[in-house]
Amino acid sequence: MTDTTHQPRQQQLISLQVNGEQHELLTEPRRTLVDALRHDLRLTGTHVGCEHGICGACTVLLDGQPVRACLMFAAQAEGSEIRTVESLADGRQLSDLQQAFSEHHGLQCGFCTPGFLMLAEGFLAERPEASKEEIREVVASNLCRCTGYQTIVEAIDDCATRRRAALRSQLEGTGHQHTGHQNEGNSETGPPRAACEEDRCGSTTRSR
Ligand code: FES
Ligand code: FES
Repeated sequence: MTDTTHQPRQQQLISLQVNGEQHELLTEPRRTLVDALRHDLRLTGTHVGCEHGICGACTVLLDGQPVRACLMFAAQAEGSEIRTVESLADGRQLSDLQQAFSEHHGLQCGFCTPGFLMLAEGFLAERPEASKEEIREVVASNLCRCTGYQTIVEAIDDCATRRRAALRSQLEGTGHQHTGHQNEGNSETGPPRAACEEDRCGSTTRSR
């Protein structure tokens, strides 16, 4: 019988694109994405809570979509564009979303905050016209034990309102008339995506 106790663990070379940079990592196949981000790439802004997909503290964006990084193997993220909370600020300048969290006191201990920020960042890019009710429903997928959620909802709603106002004034400045979309989305097709990219009216344009 073969003794496998002291066999070296299998490693594999993977390539991850994180916050616009390409990284090569030698990892075990079972390494989770959140461990690769935190321990291999030292991007410790992404937090780990339950490690069971419940709390959302580990939320990052994968090709723009919020995902639980504790539920994915790092190798599964190869070929995708990953964004972590570190991508939001520009140096010491907070993003508008981070600023809104600060202004509305959308955080107390802050442990859950990176997950909420990335959840909101992905959601607002997909649904810039989101109502407060929709925001409330989305944030319910992450857990916060401190804020009672109301301030988080207020922060995201305020950020969305300001982005829409900024876009409107930008469009007015360029004389753009929003005449509607060919693909407004419906209950079957889901929300509109990339409907007006060419004229940059931005109803589905990602903010960053
Ligand atoms: S740590 Fe990933 S969902 Fe809780
Ligand atoms: S601010 Fe503490 S858990 Fe959310």
